[in-house]
Amino acid sequence: MTSPRLFGTPLSPSAIKVMLLGSGELGKETIIALQRLGVETIAVDRYPNAPGHQVAHRAHVIDMLDGAALSALIALEKPDLVVPEIEAIATETLLALEEAGKITCIPTARAAMLTMNREGIRRLAAEKLGLPTSPYRFASSLEELEQACATVGFPCVVKPVMSSSGKGQSKLDSAADVAAAWEAAASGGRVDAGRVIAEGFVDFDYEITLLTVRSVGADGQVETSFCEPIGHKQVQGDYVESWQPQQMSSAALARARDIADKVTTDLGGCGVFGVELFVKGDMVWFSEVSPRPHDTGMVTMVSQVQSEFELHAKAVLGLPVDASLRAPGASAVIYGQIDAAGIAFDGVADALRVPGVDLRLFGKPESFARRRMGVALATAEDVETARRRALEAASRVKPVSR
Ligand SMILES: Nc1ncnc2c1ncn2[C@@H]1O[C@H](COP(=O)(O)OP(=O)(O)O)[C@@H](O)[C@H]1O
Ligand SMILES: [Mg+2]
Repeated sequence: MTSPRLFGTPLSPSAIKVMLLGSGELGKETIIALQRLGVETIAVDRYPNAPGHQVAHRAHVIDMLDGAALSALIALEKPDLVVPEIEAIATETLLALEEAGKITCIPTARAAMLTMNREGIRRLAAEKLGLPTSPYRFASSLEELEQACATVGFPCVVKPVMSSSGKGQSKLDSAADVAAAWEAAASGGRVDAGRVIAEGFVDFDYEITLLTVRSVGADGQVETSFCEPIGHKQVQGDYVESWQPQQMSSAALARARDIADKVTTDLGGCGVFGVELFVKGDMVWFSEVSPRPHDTGMVTMVSQVQSEFELHAKAVLGLPVDASLRAPGASAVIYGQIDAAGIAFDGVADALRVPGVDLRLFGKPESFARRRMGVALATAEDVETARRRALEAASRVKPVSR
């Protein structure tokens, strides 16, 4: 574990060097948080001028699923810490480098590997740790999927084992939907692993992200802190709105924390984890976990004393953290709405006239109708008002092509 150490000067031999693998909007904010502590930052992504590239000391463009390219870049830059920001990375290369003592991967290479594949994390949570999850089966062919769906029952959800942001995911109401779901998974997965999970549909009251931080305490031991639960709304498996705190019964909150504690303790290391949970009454199901800041957690940039990015930066550097709430808050996604490169945003001033509101425009070089290009953030006396304000501000920002 990272112990207290000297904090150096960037671009000098004393620098602490951190490499971000993936440099989208979450990486960009993590880089900014690291730079505030005088850390030298190296942003990596698969396309040029990614959001994080624009604020890092150095930027690299590589295919992070290419293990040889990844180890060559790590050998060149010699970072003190490697911080995965996305799932699509050659995690077996990270594991080999970590085992050889060549890198420290956040939180651990094993955590990055297990969570990039739904099979790894689901089997860990349900079969090793005994946590409550939806019923599930894996399938590698249409015939196996028919069997899997019949076993878990309808309605169910089918997802490629390697995918994120709802890509390739379908909800099935009956056996008649299985073939289309198999097709959608094959075309929507990150890499066509030809393998899917069928999950029984959980008829939850609400879903949350429980941001969980593992950091080094005063006694040198790793301690776990929980942020207030974040409620969120997903459309087609992609988050459109989030808020904090989500009200929960004390029994459900205790269960949520217990699940988050068990899964993050097993994954190990230090940093922020986004534990996704479904809640119905006092019942809580584990869904999945990101071993890194979570998109629904962008709300913490206004609602917490330290945002999830500051928490991550501090935790990975072995520093103490403060996970407390500052004010009820909300976030609303600003989508690209058009397919074009180098778009512009109209209505920014109007959006900022909504009381209690702030904005982030990510600076992504290319817009797609359903690509997340920015986010409106709001605080208020209560979550309902914060949500209204964030939605109003987001709706005032109009992407236009130039
Ligand atoms: N078994 C399920 N039952 C009910 N809703 C689900 C289930 N699985 C996924 N969902 C819905 O789809 C969203 C995205 O699914 P998730 O497994 O988190 O995929 P991703 O990795 O793309 O985020 C969830 O946040 C939830 O709203
Ligand atoms: Mg998810």
